[in-house]
Amino acid sequence: MSANPNGAAAQPFARHPIRMTLNGQPRQLDVLPWTTLLDLLREQLDLVGSKKGCDHGQCGACTVLRDGKRVNACLTLAVMCDGAELTTIEGLADGDQLHPMQQAFIKHDAFQCGYCTPGQICSAVGLANEGRAHDGAQIQELMSGNLCRCGAYSNIRDAIEEALPACRRSGGE
Ligand code: FES
Ligand code: FES
Repeated sequence: MSANPNGAAAQPFARHPIRMTLNGQPRQLDVLPWTTLLDLLREQLDLVGSKKGCDHGQCGACTVLRDGKRVNACLTLAVMCDGAELTTIEGLADGDQLHPMQQAFIKHDAFQCGYCTPGQICSAVGLANEGRAHDGAQIQELMSGNLCRCGAYSNIRDAIEEALPACRRSGGE
């Protein structure tokens, strides 16, 4: 334990215990109060599918599903996920069977470099859970929080449009 300039012993920062279901597995973790969900996933749990693009809630590359709703993991503190059910891109497939949204992205060639793709797919599954988008224009509008530097937007829209009915039938994630 180190001492501060006044001679008092510095107190270690308190970690907070949280429980969550992560990709179907129950987890118990101790997290610092300022740790974001994105840093928890990538740096402590080695789930690096969720990407850190801007780290400011502006690109959507970090999108994951919390209780079925899409959230920016870079703007979500890990302590806010106590009791939550989380799904990342690593948890969407069912064994070797890809999620319908993943299959549609492959079929429609809806990526180039792939950096935005995990966030796009998680966001699209969240969109299916919302049940709000019914045509290409609505998909475009409601996916506008997910940026693609490669400009694969038209293929992304086509993939989502095709997969939405199957996602709704299967109950999304
Ligand atoms: S990294 Fe989270 S929105 Fe860009
Ligand atoms: S595929 Fe490259 S950023 Fe979207």
